[in-house]
Amino acid sequence: MDLGLKGKRLLITGGSRGLGRAIVTHALAEGAIVATCARGQAGLDRLASDLGAGQDRLFCQALDVRDAAAFQAWVQTAAAQLGGVDGVVSNVSTRLSGHDEAWWRESFETDFLQHARLAEATYPHLKSGHEPALLFISSIASVLSNLPPDELAYGVMKAGLINYTGQLAARWGNRGIRVNAVSPGPIFFEGGTWDTIKQGNPKLFEAAARLPALGRHGTPDEVAKAALFLLSPAASYITGTNLRIDGGAIRTANF
Ligand SMILES: NC(=O)c1ccc[n+]([C@@H]2O[C@H](COP(=O)([O-])OP(=O)(O)OC[C@H]3O[C@@H](n4cnc5c(N)ncnc54)[C@H](OP(=O)(O)O)[C@@H]3O)[C@@H](O)[C@H]2O)c1
Repeated sequence: MDLGLKGKRLLITGGSRGLGRAIVTHALAEGAIVATCARGQAGLDRLASDLGAGQDRLFCQALDVRDAAAFQAWVQTAAAQLGGVDGVVSNVSTRLSGHDEAWWRESFETDFLQHARLAEATYPHLKSGHEPALLFISSIASVLSNLPPDELAYGVMKAGLINYTGQLAARWGNRGIRVNAVSPGPIFFEGGTWDTIKQGNPKLFEAAARLPALGRHGTPDEVAKAALFLLSPAASYITGTNLRIDGGAIRTANF
């Protein structure tokens, strides 16, 4: 099936590693033009050199999404580089551990507020985009009530993101902008969270592998393909939804 992403102008945050990198990779393979950001310049340089995409297909900038001014300025720069914006994937998040009030504030900043900033900053561009769509990367942590106590804020912010998805879908539908979310389950990649857990806490790693009905961790490619489907014109009548990509980890009927 042709997803219809050829020539689409996409902003994808956090493209230097993990799920974001897989989304950038598949988007370029589908013929899209991509602007991405991450804090580390080295990761972005590696991405550009590994993918071999020329300066006209992939634009990278190092910045911290918690820096509101730099983030908003990047949206304008990226929109100019791409010549407009048709799609946005808001992927960055940080699974912060902690207990105190400062941790709640920092979690709000990194796991919720920067997504809202991106949505607000890209809205004027999406309004004049072609078959425009926005996709948030949430997590099945949004529905789990047995997260480790020091990851509680992560789950709360990811749940808020799904509500925000529905609110924006309702508000922006009359402008033809679709807004969706995906909720990945445990996704393994070298150097990622589950790789760290595999090294440090193999029992937890094995327990997580048993959680999905499919009996294993997922891969970034499996998330990227489903995420790009929702972002693409192939999903033209889907908005306000949250798609679990979790191998059946959440054992409830998904109404
Ligand atoms: N991995 C999983 O099992 C899993 C499961 C469910 C949901 N998710 C969600 O999927 C998304 C991606 O997860 P991941 O595991 O691929 O994450 P990751 O390995 O931490 O990669 C995150 C990407 O975002 C960038 N980044 C992190 N903080 C940033 C900041 N403050 N400003 C700018 N860029 C920043 C990172 O590059 P720099 O470090 O260089 O900035 C990297 O490119 C997240 O929203 C996560 O919550 C992941």
